[in-house]
Amino acid sequence: MSERTHMRSELNADVTPAAVGEFPTPRIGKFELNPPVILAPMAGVTNAPFRRLCREMGGALYVSEMVNARALAEGHRRSLKLASFTDDEYPRSLQIYGTDPESVSTAIHTLVSEDRVDHIDMNFGCPAPKVTRNGGGAAVPARPRLFSRIVSAAVSAAGDIPVTVKFRKGIDDTLLTSNTAGRIAEAEGAAAVALHARTAYQLYSGSADWNAVGELKSVVTTIPVFGNGDIFEPWDALRMMRMTGCDGVVVGRGCLGRPWLFRDLNAVFAGDEPPPPPTVADISATMTRHATLLHEWFGGQLGIQLFRKHANWYLAGLPVGRSVRAAMNTVDHPTDIARILAPIDQSISYPLEALRVVRSHSGGPRPVALPQRFLEHLDSDLPPGREADVVVSGG
Ligand SMILES: Cc1cc2nc3c(=O)[nH]c(=O)nc-3n(C[C@H](O)[C@H](O)[C@H](O)COP(=O)(O)O)c2cc1C
Repeated sequence: MSERTHMRSELNADVTPAAVGEFPTPRIGKFELNPPVILAPMAGVTNAPFRRLCREMGGALYVSEMVNARALAEGHRRSLKLASFTDDEYPRSLQIYGTDPESVSTAIHTLVSEDRVDHIDMNFGCPAPKVTRNGGGAAVPARPRLFSRIVSAAVSAAGDIPVTVKFRKGIDDTLLTSNTAGRIAEAEGAAAVALHARTAYQLYSGSADWNAVGELKSVVTTIPVFGNGDIFEPWDALRMMRMTGCDGVVVGRGCLGRPWLFRDLNAVFAGDEPPPPPTVADISATMTRHATLLHEWFGGQLGIQLFRKHANWYLAGLPVGRSVRAAMNTVDHPTDIARILAPIDQSISYPLEALRVVRSHSGGPRPVALPQRFLEHLDSDLPPGREADVVVSGG
């Protein structure tokens, strides 16, 4: 038997695994979420290969990258590829971004009538200046009537397919919108809501405000409320749910370079201690699997190029030198990975210090760019126009 045991940060020193019956299984439409865990949509990351890798670690709802409704409605090839799934993926969960009820409706109607999705998530959290400057992304919930029209259009077009809605706390501390957005989404027929508990102003900086998740849970009473922000250890999920009463969690950056977080989440929700952390040999195998899946899905070079940023995330916090990191940045075939990591002691365990290292976005705060006189017209229900509907990433 291995002598290695699971590790945890000080923050989670006293957190115990879930007790029997402690967390009722939430439903999104006909789907039961056991464990109550969702992979956060992440543009450029949560593509079919990454979702498959995560699925191999355990159960959760694995959401796609964001796809632009207008681009889908107009049949752009790249968007169609982003919105495609392998035959064995179920449920097929797709995130859509749109600011215009009409193109949202057209896109969803097409997806549903062609039987290409099982769940749709709507993104209202994108903080990119080129989007918010035009009244799109995270700016939309500040206009409750427009927000309501978009959600309503999505729900009607989706028919029996459940639609969930993801948003931030608000624009900044002077314009908090999450409670209103939650009530509207609930009234318009959303199957669940998810709150990234930061304002657009905060971007990805500071800590997520889990109290805002608790507040949302107290005003949205008939559909599940999912909390999002700063789940790095499986224990964080339990802590967030116990603190806020929310129905489940959405996991973003915590699983970057650490897809085994889903295995650990499955364990704690089942009432168990998580398994021991992976060794360098395990990580090498996971990286090779990930690179192989990307290689197969996107084709040779592109797949491997896409893997390189993941390689940095896998190595973040590991005791490997600069030369290994540099070599990993030039990897051009999945089989290179084990060779590059071969000089490292394969039995070294994933280190405690690496648990809460933030991978990918950490920027902010930054003032939110808004259209001129936007704040004087918060009661508008008019879509902001094409410029707010550009294809961007983020949430
Ligand atoms: C690389 C990256 C891409 C993202 N893309 C999206 C996106 O397309 N749609 C979305 O709703 N959120 C997106 N987000 C935000 C995440 O879904 C999540 O709300 C955020 O990272 C906070 O959760 P975390 O603290 O667990 O990372 C993205 C985040 C990252 C790091």
